Amino acid sequence: MKKQPSVLLVDDSRDMLELLRRYMNGMGLTPFTTNNVVDAIDVLEQGPVDLVITDLNMPEVSGTQLVRYVAQHFPRIPVLVITGFPDVQVAVEVMKQGAVEFLVKPVTETELRTAVEKVLGMNTEEVADITSDITPTAMHGIIGRSRGMQEVFRIIERTRTNNATILVSGESGTGKEVIARAIHYNSDRSTAPFLAVNCGAIPDQLLESELFGHTKGAFTGAATNRVGFFQAADGGTLFLDEIGNATPAAQAKLLRAVQEKEVTMLGGTKPQRVNVRLISASNSDLNEMVRTGTFREDLYYRLNLINIQLPPLRERVEDIPLLINHFNAKFSKDMGKKPLRISASVLDVLQAYAWPGNVRELENFIHRLAIMKDTTVAMDDLPSTMKMAGPERPEHGAMHTLAEVEKQHIQHVLERTGQNKTKAAEILGIDRKTLREKLK
Ligand SMILES: Nc1ncnc2c1ncn2[C@@H]1O[C@H](COP(=O)(O)OP(=O)(O)OP(=O)(O)O)[C@@H](O)[C@H]1O
Ligand SMILES: [Mg+2]
Repeated sequence: MKKQPSVLLVDDSRDMLELLRRYMNGMGLTPFTTNNVVDAIDVLEQGPVDLVITDLNMPEVSGTQLVRYVAQHFPRIPVLVITGFPDVQVAVEVMKQGAVEFLVKPVTETELRTAVEKVLGMNTEEVADITSDITPTAMHGIIGRSRGMQEVFRIIERTRTNNATILVSGESGTGKEVIARAIHYNSDRSTAPFLAVNCGAIPDQLLESELFGHTKGAFTGAATNRVGFFQAADGGTLFLDEIGNATPAAQAKLLRAVQEKEVTMLGGTKPQRVNVRLISASNSDLNEMVRTGTFREDLYYRLNLINIQLPPLRERVEDIPLLINHFNAKFSKDMGKKPLRISASVLDVLQAYAWPGNVRELENFIHRLAIMKDTTVAMDDLPSTMKMAGPERPEHGAMHTLAEVEKQHIQHVLERTGQNKTKAAEILGIDRKTLREKLK
């Protein structure tokens, strides 16, 4: 079942808010209302919002600031501006800041409906990409709405039409390959091949010929000419997984391939031009390998024009419920049953657990539950190691309020970050000011 889109309404006039609220209800949207920008930002920080409709002239902070804030922090949320003072200059300005529609008061219900449908029409597609839809989508099933993941989405958008090399680093299971695919399938190369080479799984002496191909007789057993991954991926994207395992010889050839955009087959003499976007991934610290001299510095900089640092799952806890829902829906559907019901206390434990194997571990865990359980997941279904991982929590079954859960969670994150408030605020996906207020 599809969730009703939610809309955040911001206007200093109570009457206008009420009117907008009724219109939104009539359109089947879930409205939140606030009469100022500061509260609006609070609402945005707290939960998913699919659309923002804001006034411009408000006593304290102007709506233009909100438009800018949303564009910077929630680039996927469209903003519709309604103003009582039509002014081309202002209209141009807010559109530049990121507003997608500009309406002038008084707005009729029809005008508003048309605008909302237009805006959400283009947005629902994008939201479906990153939320729980199981069907393959343009974003290729990347789930996440944490700051860290939003930054990743932003980079994917920014690299659609250029050939910038991208280095994706992150712990095992954080989704490096998922991201690499998403970059490719969102780019203007999407109709050409995406090929993945695991530099760690190919024996040293074969890596070069796998990457660049070989001519007949280049080595014993090379009975015919054979193209390598570079030639095969021409026009598309080559994903160099576990790049830290590339041998010095392969590194030297890779450097040439990136620099000159040409490759020479093993045993061959004539370089061939290739047009390949390179995305590399590593879960070892390449920077450190450069320092210790095991990875070429020049190659490192060539491969790392754009850097995507995928945060471990424990540093984006707000993505955990989304991922759980996603995998729960997916595996239940595969098994022809309804999604499992997961209690709030169980969710609480799952969010506090550190997930050393990151998304892959979470995925496997939900898969196991989908196989083992029929309707609900209770505390008893969780391994004790998982329950111990979290902060002190009330006795099993005890009622606790949302505020308590939030408090515990904040304390927990603070402990993990060694009381570093900036870091904690980042993990929690709120700004420092909000965190300070919550701590009070
Ligand atoms: N954001 C995400 N949304 C949905 N699924 C994800 C996400 N991140 C990872 N996954 C899933 O988690 C699993 C691990 O992802 P992936 O193989 O991309 O990780 P990795 O970083 O390449 O790991 P490794 O370093 O071990 O190779 C995959 O099944 C992938 O589909
Ligand atoms: Mg991988």
